[in-house]
Amino acid sequence: LPVESRPFASYGSALHIALPQAPRAGQLLTLLIDYEAGEGPGVCWLSPEQTAGKQKPYMYTQGQAVLNRSFFPCFDTPSVKFTYSATVKVPEGFTAVMSATSWEKQKDNTFVFKMSQPIPSYLIALVVGDIVSADVGPRSRVWAEPCLIEAAKKEYDGVIEEFLVVGEKLFGPYVWGRYDILFMPPSFPFGGMENPCLTFVTPCLLAGDRSLVDVIIHEISHSWFGNLVTNATWGEFWLNEGFTMYAQRRISTEVYGLPYTCLEAATGRALLRQHMDATGEDHPLNKLRVVIEPGLWGVNPDDTYNETPYEKGYCFVSYLAHLVGNQSKFDAFLQAYVNRFKFQSITADDTLGFFLEYFPELKEKGVDSIPGFEFDRWLNTPGWPPYLPDLSPGQQLMRPADELAELWAADGLNVEAIEAVDITGWRTYQLVYFLDQVLQKSPLPEGNVKRLSKMYPKISKAQNAELRLRWCQIVLKNNLEAEYSKVKDFLHSQGKQKYTLPLYRAMWGGSEATRALAMETFSATAPQLHVNVQNYVKKILGLGGAE
Ligand code: BES
Ligand code: ZN
Repeated sequence: LPVESRPFASYGSALHIALPQAPRAGQLLTLLIDYEAGEGPGVCWLSPEQTAGKQKPYMYTQGQAVLNRSFFPCFDTPSVKFTYSATVKVPEGFTAVMSATSWEKQKDNTFVFKMSQPIPSYLIALVVGDIVSADVGPRSRVWAEPCLIEAAKKEYDGVIEEFLVVGEKLFGPYVWGRYDILFMPPSFPFGGMENPCLTFVTPCLLAGDRSLVDVIIHEISHSWFGNLVTNATWGEFWLNEGFTMYAQRRISTEVYGLPYTCLEAATGRALLRQHMDATGEDHPLNKLRVVIEPGLWGVNPDDTYNETPYEKGYCFVSYLAHLVGNQSKFDAFLQAYVNRFKFQSITADDTLGFFLEYFPELKEKGVDSIPGFEFDRWLNTPGWPPYLPDLSPGQQLMRPADELAELWAADGLNVEAIEAVDITGWRTYQLVYFLDQVLQKSPLPEGNVKRLSKMYPKISKAQNAELRLRWCQIVLKNNLEAEYSKVKDFLHSQGKQKYTLPLYRAMWGGSEATRALAMETFSATAPQLHVNVQNYVKKILGLGGAE
């Protein structure tokens, strides 16, 4: 058939195929496309040095949002769903895994995969590497390079199933068969990616104490919100992430209780505050519904990965629950919503229409147009959420951290009062919350941060990535030159976008010394970073890069 490739976006092109005659409605059309994937952001090729084991090369794909078009020809929009199968031949000594409901190893290092549920293009994912697996539950195993498998098994053995069971109780059947977790090389740009049947996660989650398990609960929650009910366009990404944040915190509340979950949600709110302060509340990104288009008001699908769809989206879903006023009724609505729209791609109008249909008494009352809280305002007005869920059940965990941060921000330190607070028993998220408060009050009076560093080696020498990020931010904001090397070490150790960009922004917005540190660190680590992350850093450092 005559084919033609036409320009489409900054990468990838549109494949136009002329059919001999227009197909009839309902006619099955089979197209066989012979192609080779070349350069492109969807497929990442890593050298042995970029892996944990440093012995063998590794390749992985990352499709979301619109990168899979450089991996295979597809309708690269979340509005189209399809099943797939794949045959993957790899060199001796390598294993291939995919986001598929079944897989089988055949002879000649050939792996055959089949996804029997319809999914959008961004959820197809492949890894080829020196990886092995270990069981951690009746339908779950962890995958990792051999040198990490022990740690991976220890971190999650026996904990995954409970999240799945609670998720099923709340949101309905888990339709994907297995739920496995793959620990990626350190440069993986996300905390987690909800590839169906096989979540990809950063190795930073191997904290040794299960403290970062909220990421797993988040990716599990996508099994209903995102992977079953999918946003039809990336302009309504909050439908995936806002509902998933809500579902994550519902599961967390059931498993860990309300106080802890409110504490975690408070750290999320702090991230939203930081994001809006950095971009300006009125930035077009700070609407739940954004316009995907090049140019001034337009947004690139990749740029929707910021805190607004997550945390403002969470606030909107919490607001809907608040309108209902009864948790079990709202849980029942969520389950009905999943059931109504499963395997479909929808817009916010579908969601909100179904909400009003499900609760006719609320529709009657006109809850969609309460002044200041109009659904239209939630969707189309940038800025801070008009409603914030009550996080006061977390006060028992937050108050000590708030008070301690106050003490550290004082001019003449009240050392006695500080020493009277014992933080040895604090959970990771309490420390995270404390550090966010300290960061917000920074720069602290001269000498305080140095003192803090000495007093709490548990924080300043932490190996936990969430603590390291905050500590590095505090070091930079307070110009604590003696610890600049920690920023460098952290950026050398991993390449997660949400850790990398805030630190480069802080360095670039700081002194001549921190700018030099940024340049030096970037030139050493750039080749290890995902190309999207590289481009964002370049943009921050004024080196060209992302448009
Ligand atoms: N689907 C996202 C990751 C993503 C978003 C990849 C946009 C590409 C484009 C994933 O579910 C996610 O939200 N991960 C978070 C986890 C966190 C909110 C617990 C992350 O990586 O930080
Ligand atoms: Zn998510």
